[in-house]
Amino acid sequence: MTANPNPEPLHGEVYRPAPHVVLSANVPDPEAVYAEAARDLEGYWARRASELEWFKPWDRVLDDSKKPFYQWFVGGKTNIVHNALDRHVRTWRRNKLALIWEGENGDLRTFSYHALSREVCKFSVVLRSMGVSKGDRVTIYMPRIPETWIAMLACAKIGAVHSVVYGGFSVEALHGRIEDSASKLIITADGGYMGGKVVELKQIVDEALKRTAVAENVIVVKRTGKPVNMEAGRDFWYHELINLPLTRNMGKCETEAMDAEDPLFILYTSGTTGKPKAVLHTHGGYQVGVYATLKDVFDLKEEDRWWCTADPGWITGHSYIVYGPLLNGATSFMYEGGPSYPFPDRWWSMIAKYGISVFYTTPTAIRGLMRFGEAWPNRHDLSSLRLLGSVGEPINPEAWRWFHKHIGKEQCPIMDTWWQTETGGFMITPMPAVPTKPGSAAKPYPGVAVDIVDEQGKPVKPGEEGFLVLKKPWPAMLRTIYKDPERYVQTYWSKYPGMYLAGDSARRDEDGYFWIIGRVDDVIKVSGYRLGTAELESAFVSHPAVAETAVIGLPHEVKGIAIHAYVILRAGYEPSEALAEELRKHVAHEMGPIAKPEKIEFVKSLPKTRSGKIMRRVLKARAQGLSEGDLSTLEE
Ligand code: WT7
Repeated sequence: MTANPNPEPLHGEVYRPAPHVVLSANVPDPEAVYAEAARDLEGYWARRASELEWFKPWDRVLDDSKKPFYQWFVGGKTNIVHNALDRHVRTWRRNKLALIWEGENGDLRTFSYHALSREVCKFSVVLRSMGVSKGDRVTIYMPRIPETWIAMLACAKIGAVHSVVYGGFSVEALHGRIEDSASKLIITADGGYMGGKVVELKQIVDEALKRTAVAENVIVVKRTGKPVNMEAGRDFWYHELINLPLTRNMGKCETEAMDAEDPLFILYTSGTTGKPKAVLHTHGGYQVGVYATLKDVFDLKEEDRWWCTADPGWITGHSYIVYGPLLNGATSFMYEGGPSYPFPDRWWSMIAKYGISVFYTTPTAIRGLMRFGEAWPNRHDLSSLRLLGSVGEPINPEAWRWFHKHIGKEQCPIMDTWWQTETGGFMITPMPAVPTKPGSAAKPYPGVAVDIVDEQGKPVKPGEEGFLVLKKPWPAMLRTIYKDPERYVQTYWSKYPGMYLAGDSARRDEDGYFWIIGRVDDVIKVSGYRLGTAELESAFVSHPAVAETAVIGLPHEVKGIAIHAYVILRAGYEPSEALAEELRKHVAHEMGPIAKPEKIEFVKSLPKTRSGKIMRRVLKARAQGLSEGDLSTLEE
């Protein structure tokens, strides 16, 4: 590779990677790969897919005959667990660490590829013996502990479809997801440590199961050892099941051969209207997408120690805590608890302790830790770091610069990755050899066709804001909304035929760099967590005092966006501070602590259209003292 002697001039604040970063990168010449994928999309993805193993090769890379129900690697037989575990344990990697885990209370556990694979085998035998088979849905509701990985991988291994529900969600959110997926089995823990407290997961499961009849069994991992209710015949301890004589029969743990297009998991995410939707991903395309994007963007090398601070309960955790790193044969670190417990240098101390080399986190976490000052990171030797990353919401340049200077010591390029639950993997992102600009996610990943269009679907000019769309399919894309193909078409493919509507607004600068502005629908990104106004509002109205409510997101210094609620009370209830506090607690109890509203305002009426739709945009403008815009349809 020859470094381009005359790099293109770029505008604005530009950070160019050092020559050694470019020369040693997995993708040292990004322009060549962008060009390759632009020339031959299917050829590019076929090349990447053949870096993995297939039980039977595909007949066709891409079948678009039923679009927008695109299919990838059609006719291929595979299983993501074969590529994540089985193929590694045949090599020297059997002795390599797959996972290093630290509990919030200081517990430490490590798993080699061999050890992880063995646990997954044992648990897959347990699952099969409990009657879980190919295609069955299993809900996983766990703290950040190694058994979360084991549960996900064991499901995938036997062809069951996992539905992980984030451990920070609560009763109603969990109940809705168990019921919609009709899960036979729930895998949970007695609790988990978070920010110095115990989150009582099993108790929440018990409460959620009172509201439904679908789940037959619950498997409980002992994490905290605090007493929990175990219902005879329904609830079983993980450690007892996994040590039963049947699990010694490891011959029965072979990995199920799946069609490339067979479902791997569903993951619920909030959308514009109504209940959260179950985004469905498959074994074949998803494994290729997450494997290739992680390898190229975070440049994983055999000797790296990778830390993605997300939770396995979100897509970031699925793709870049569990599957992506294992597909790459990498060593990951996972931490159970809160970033500033017991002190604001907990994360920095673990980077030093475990020699983390690639570190991927969120703008909210950076802004939160930034407030404590640089004395905290400065106490620790962070020189093992070589690459940093950010995800989940736009990163403000101030936080970017702080991260770059005080964590990366000006030596580590920052990969700001834009993507979604639906996209499965990175879509707009730099690679280490691509110059970066603070606040911009840089350029589309090879083969990704991004555009920014106006209301009519026409591309806007550089510098102008518009709707972000994707004009070509990609392997890790969602295949449908589980049980609701119409909603899939309606949500993503109906505004502009032939284009996937992301739900974000963005602009592109004169250098072709993308700047994501934020959601343009009723999704609120609180601290980077995706919540829907519909789900939040239904949590509010399940309280007897609430007649009607409207929820909006307003800018917040640390959280990026925070939840503000306007509440109309039922007759007989009077506004008070105490009632506001009670409602905040109620929403946190039903949805989870992340959904706790920042502010509640009691009102007598809400701005609505004549057809009765709440005009959240008017509320937002009023709250920020901005122009209320076109009010011709308003009827208060
Ligand atoms: C939404 C998707 C992608 C994994 C975690 C979130 C926002 C995500 C960025 C970024 C600006 C971002 C968008 C997107 N978002 N990454 N780098 N810069 N915004 O997945 O929960 O499905 O949320 O997160 O608004 O649409 P998700």
